[in-house]
Amino acid sequence: MIPISVPLLDDEEKQAVCKVLDSGWLVQGPEVEAFEKAFAAFCGVRHAVATSSGTTALYTAILSHGIGPGDEVITTSFTFIASANAVLFGRAKPVFVDIDERTYNINPHLIEAAITPRTKAILPVHLFGHPCDMGAIGDIAARHGLVVIEDACQAHGATFGGRKVGSFGTGCFSFYPTKNMTTAEGGVLTTDDDELADRARLIRNHGQRQRYFHEMVGYNFRMTEIQAAIGLVQMGKLERFSAARRANAEYLSAHLRGVAVPWEAPGCHHVYHQYTIRVPDGRDGLAEQLRQRGVATGIYYPLPVHKQVAYQKLGYTDHLPVAEQAAREVLSLPVHPTLTRENLDTIVEGVNARWS
Ligand SMILES: Cc1ncc(COP(=O)(O)O)c(C=O)c1O
Repeated sequence: MIPISVPLLDDEEKQAVCKVLDSGWLVQGPEVEAFEKAFAAFCGVRHAVATSSGTTALYTAILSHGIGPGDEVITTSFTFIASANAVLFGRAKPVFVDIDERTYNINPHLIEAAITPRTKAILPVHLFGHPCDMGAIGDIAARHGLVVIEDACQAHGATFGGRKVGSFGTGCFSFYPTKNMTTAEGGVLTTDDDELADRARLIRNHGQRQRYFHEMVGYNFRMTEIQAAIGLVQMGKLERFSAARRANAEYLSAHLRGVAVPWEAPGCHHVYHQYTIRVPDGRDGLAEQLRQRGVATGIYYPLPVHKQVAYQKLGYTDHLPVAEQAAREVLSLPVHPTLTRENLDTIVEGVNARWS
């Protein structure tokens, strides 16, 4: 079976992990510090604060910005649930607006109508590795005095107008095994704001600057040295991984017939965390046809967040037609760096066979 994703780890990561195990320093030490420096430089920001996951990076961002009860955060419903849950963890309210049908990202034209006196932040998600329209979002945020928290969990190295995601607002990344680079579990928050970085570091580590002296109530959201050591090796490979993803995406888009292929908006650099096609009729049949030919596919996401039972229980009754239609039609095909030309042809033939 051609898998939908594979973590790419080899002897380099193994050696880095063994070095940490031999050192006896297992949590938040020199490897984490080096990883943070490398990731901040990669994004072009002053600070990176490593966390235990993308979810905890998002929650740390919410808390660091002082977002709490009574506040609203405008975001997308067509995402992994953690984007919106992080807002709920802070006891604030996610407010959903619909998406752009080509990029699947939050539609900036709909944001202003959702702003109320309680709105504190906009939380765009760079879904599938395609950057959101950060020009339009930045302008709206500036006009209304709102914070921008970027969910860049799927978009390591994606750029908008030549600038890396995670450098426009407070960035949040995930290093879960399916992501473009991994640390097993893991995440990072990126920012240019010295004070915000300081608060994030406190929140991540039980509010302590000095051991057993707690300035605030914080959490244990620390990254381990093992994760950071893997991350440092993966960072050295990320550009190569992304280039391979882009080359695979280009090949698929050039050869697939009868389906809408992913779009790359002008001025954007897509890193193809997912290669997502649209199949208005018979999406599930096509997935089955591909499975029979040995090609795994994924549906990201079959149900938008506002339609999830957990959110229905909270009273969400939104109708977001573009997101809801996307959820019925999207199908992600393998695009990961290990695909061979033969694999790509198997995928292409599997999709195109539908029309022969
Ligand atoms: C868009 C998005 N946001 C948030 C997360 C949460 O990241 P993690 O699984 O590392 O907690 C993920 C990944 O799973 C994601 O894809």
